Amino acid sequence: MSFARQMFGQVQRRAFTQSARQNSKVAVLGAAGGIGQPLSLLMKLNPRVTNLALYDIRLGPADISHINTKSVVKGYDPTPSGLRECLSGAEIVLIPAGVPRKPGMTRDDLFNTNASIVRDLAKAVADSAPNANILVISNPVNSTVPICREILKSKGVYNPKRLFGVTTLDVVRASRFVSSIKGTDPANENITVVGGHSGVTIVPLISQSGHTDITGEKLDTLVNRIQFGGDEVVKAKDGAGSATLSMAMAGARFAESLLRASQGESNVVEPTFVDSPLYKNKGVDFFASKVTLGPDGVQEIHDVGKLTDHEQKLLDACLEDLKKNIEKGVKFVAENP
Ligand code: NAI
Repeated sequence: MSFARQMFGQVQRRAFTQSARQNSKVAVLGAAGGIGQPLSLLMKLNPRVTNLALYDIRLGPADISHINTKSVVKGYDPTPSGLRECLSGAEIVLIPAGVPRKPGMTRDDLFNTNASIVRDLAKAVADSAPNANILVISNPVNSTVPICREILKSKGVYNPKRLFGVTTLDVVRASRFVSSIKGTDPANENITVVGGHSGVTIVPLISQSGHTDITGEKLDTLVNRIQFGGDEVVKAKDGAGSATLSMAMAGARFAESLLRASQGESNVVEPTFVDSPLYKNKGVDFFASKVTLGPDGVQEIHDVGKLTDHEQKLLDACLEDLKKNIEKGVKFVAENP
């Protein structure tokens, strides 16, 4: 079975008939990067995508346009008008633009560089693709998503149903790590991960996975590995960046889920970091939990469900950090509009 069929096989036939009557333009901002390149490749292999628009400030993956799938690929000049054209008419805008971590760095250490990159790209999206679904990959996601909200609000085009922080990689990792402990097929391990996307804000809910035998030290080790899985990669790459291929797969999965939902499929559920009512009473405006996606983006935000005492403690620690991360993003835009 081909790679494309493996990724998109189950829904492929329907996708062809759907995409025949639907234009799905996907834009990737940061397309030449470690994530951007494989992500663009995966979107090129997705039969639901009709137009793939690639933008970066350095030269992009030009040969993607030679791949013999139906979508039309175009790379755009790194100029304001290039960015405008790239975004115009996009249904989905994926943003992996920005610097990745080096060993010893937290995601928050990226803030100084990435905050302004994301702010400026969000302005361009607000102007040229105000109705697009915006999928923020650039770290620190806990702060870059609030930055986007502030910009969209200031331009009068904020739609909370269409702004997403991509936390899919945490879920992908969790199911892989659990399956390696249990000797199961990761495809069947749906581990709920809630909260945010960095360190202790990543809260895996193992009790909801049915693996009640993972307890004590084993549970602590697993939770820590899911929370700090990104550090494993940063260390292994020894200065050459952070997760790229697994992130591209996770981003492509999330974009595919949005396309499925927008093309009429029901019960499409993905965990994602969204403007959420769940913990607003604690001052936390954004929170990742399972979200049912629909034609208009966010359709239903699911609560976290039943937690063990241990998970409640993890959640409490998460909310404390998350609140600060969100406030940092909001403050940045207030001071650097
Ligand atoms: P990279 O450095 O390989 O690629 C980033 C790309 O963004 C480069 O090609 C660069 O030219 C481009 N870029 C920079 N400024 C830009 C601008 N203003 N407009 C358009 N393009 C611009 O980095 P990599 O490894 O692809 O990581 C990208 C981001 O994704 C990082 O912030 C990283 O921390 C984050 N990330 C997020 C994950 C998640 O789970 N959400 C997982 C892994 C990484």
